[in-house]
Amino acid sequence: MEVVRVQDIASLSKDTIPAEFIRSETEQPGITTVHGKHLEVPIIDFSNPDEQNVLKQIMNASGDWGMFQIVNHEIPSQVIKKLQQVGQQFFELSQEEKEVYAKPPGSQSVEGYGTKLQKEVDGKKGWVDHLFHRIWPSSTVNHRFWPKNPPSYREANEEYVKYLHRVVNKLFKSLSLGLGLEGHELKEAAGGDDLVYLLKINYYPPCPRPDLALGVAAHTDMSTITILVPNDVQGLQAFRDGHWYDVKYVPNALVIHIGDQIEILSNGKYKSVLHRTTVNKDETRISWPVFLEPPSDHVVGPHPKLVNEENPPKYKTKKYSEYVYCKLNKIPQ
Ligand code: SIN
Ligand code: FE2
Repeated sequence: MEVVRVQDIASLSKDTIPAEFIRSETEQPGITTVHGKHLEVPIIDFSNPDEQNVLKQIMNASGDWGMFQIVNHEIPSQVIKKLQQVGQQFFELSQEEKEVYAKPPGSQSVEGYGTKLQKEVDGKKGWVDHLFHRIWPSSTVNHRFWPKNPPSYREANEEYVKYLHRVVNKLFKSLSLGLGLEGHELKEAAGGDDLVYLLKINYYPPCPRPDLALGVAAHTDMSTITILVPNDVQGLQAFRDGHWYDVKYVPNALVIHIGDQIEILSNGKYKSVLHRTTVNKDETRISWPVFLEPPSDHVVGPHPKLVNEENPPKYKTKKYSEYVYCKLNKIPQ
């Protein structure tokens, strides 16, 4: 079956876009965005020597916003640049070359190159193609989905993971201490050393009607935490106090989303953030989220140390795979 990619549609669209990309008025970013006001999500400096203060900022941002940006995270900018470069080069290959990495039809895993096939809200589609593959733990990595071209793709991704661990561990430790748990307990409850790092590249080609289309529609991430780097084209929006705002990206920062699994593990103390993405008329936006996910058969629920008679569990306990199945099929959790 020949699948049409958004990148192809974009190259043929001059002034208009196909109807399946035109959002209803309740979703169109031209109508539903608060214009002229960027959202200043908390910016947290990881090089701040006052660790107590950093911990407090992470706690507050996770409880209030569910989103923040980290600066001075010690991932060298060259490492991030390389990750961005090789990802962009992959999407600039011919369609034929990219299709070699297409998600196999009927595959249960999300891994591979693709375009979201099931239509979302009101039968509409997002203006975006993607590539998904796991990058950690090594035993879960399937290089079949890692592009061979450009040749440095693998090295660039492996370098990025190497530096990512420190950020992951610092985030989990802070969030754990913030709940009154011991530093290691939250990550352990999320899967410990088996925690899966799933990389996605979102490729949003230029769109003649960015006022009518969305890249990714409104959602919260299913992951525990998502760590994201974008290119320099703005497009991330967050929902706050009933309105959609552009999130102003700070160059070289990491964007952090608290996902559903941390909201559940914390029994609601931390909040997963509702967000979406817009597209740009002239420029290609690209983003590289890494979803930190529990292994699929790992059971997740409110942490046992956080629930008692006064604080009953607010969420069900279930296998991560079951959570994902319910969310994708819109079955109440
Ligand atoms: C997403 O939330 O899936 C994408 C976020 C982004 O592209 O910034
Ligand atoms: Fe997301």
